[in-house]
Amino acid sequence: MDKNFNYSSLKLGIIGGGQLGKIMSQKAKKMGFHVTILDPTFNCPAAQVSDKHIMGGFHDVEKLEQLVQETDVTTFELEHVETSILKKLYDHGHVIHPSPYVIELIQNKYEQKKLLDKEGIPVPKYKNVLSEQDLASFGFPVIQKTKRDGYDGKGVMMLKSEADIPHAIQSDSFIEELIEIDKELAVIVARNMEGEVTSYPVVEMLFDDRVNICDSVMAPAKISKALEAKVIEISEKSIQVLEGVGIFGVELFLTQSGEVLVNEIAPRPHNSGHYTVEACATSQFEQIIRAVTNLPLGSTKLLSPSVMINLLGEEGYEGEPFIEGIHDALEIPELSFHFYGKTFTKPFRKMGHITVLDDDIDEALAKANKAKKILKVKGSKKI
Ligand SMILES: Nc1ncnc2c1ncn2[C@@H]1O[C@H](COP(=O)(O)OP(=O)(O)O)[C@@H](O)[C@H]1O
Ligand SMILES: [Mg+2]
Repeated sequence: MDKNFNYSSLKLGIIGGGQLGKIMSQKAKKMGFHVTILDPTFNCPAAQVSDKHIMGGFHDVEKLEQLVQETDVTTFELEHVETSILKKLYDHGHVIHPSPYVIELIQNKYEQKKLLDKEGIPVPKYKNVLSEQDLASFGFPVIQKTKRDGYDGKGVMMLKSEADIPHAIQSDSFIEELIEIDKELAVIVARNMEGEVTSYPVVEMLFDDRVNICDSVMAPAKISKALEAKVIEISEKSIQVLEGVGIFGVELFLTQSGEVLVNEIAPRPHNSGHYTVEACATSQFEQIIRAVTNLPLGSTKLLSPSVMINLLGEEGYEGEPFIEGIHDALEIPELSFHFYGKTFTKPFRKMGHITVLDDDIDEALAKANKAKKILKVKGSKKI
């Protein structure tokens, strides 16, 4: 895609049709591009706002090929995708970003960590698990993770003592030292085809302890300028060594002793970057489109402090979603409401989010927490 490419007829393909694909598609449509989504679910969030929906799974080789063949550039909203066919197409000159080789590396959290470690990026101490003995080699408590297919805390387990070994994860896994976390930080990093890198502000992620799902995000993080610079430097270096093109969500731990460690990298827009839609000059969703279509990267300037809160499906409900409290919540000034259009809710499913702006971050947090108390996503069936 060179400078003479006719962008008015650009066809973008997105693998994955959830909320990330939906907002990405909306930004692409804003820019006048044609968008095709690949997703197995009829009427998935992104299909509701796109030109074409190829119904197929993320391991459906024929449908993946169809998507790449029919579009000018293919990108991802998720990393758990069959890469063999994508690698073949990429090697034949089809434009796929980030490259399927980068996606493949990131799919395996252990290999990802090994590469970062080898390149001198600070990561928690980790070890491959080949036998039960390996599980005990760091002592207890210890964190065990599946190498593949984990998300939203699924595939992460704490082994408190030897007695937990019989309940340990059985699939291919590794262990990590248990970090005493002061804050969980994240940075969205964009990298274009020329290798130019730009970052968004460092944010702080707050978690729902019950399920390890990122619950809210505070932008900017309450950290010193010096620490912010260090976090950005580590995050950008992580993406440079990966040589990926697109948007990357870098998750980090600030330890209680002040160390900064990279936890994991997502090769796509990230939940911690939802706030950029309202709070930054260019959102992460527009930035990925710019990066993968060889357009200049946009400004990542923070226009206002903000707090983003995920709207998770209420415990005790499933089925057709019902939003409670929307009238009262939307009375709150500078609040922006997103609902993804998923037709089925279940406990802790990400159904939508809100972003609240305020010149004062504590005020933004107070307003967001007020909205969180009011807004509930219930379902047609009690469980
Ligand atoms: N080594 C660790 N020490 C302490 N907590 C951890 C560690 N690794 C992960 N966690 C906790 O588990 C969460 C999920 O782990 P992560 O590897 O990011 O998996 P996921 O793919 O589900 O996001 C982290 O955000 C953090 O709260
Ligand atoms: Mg994570």
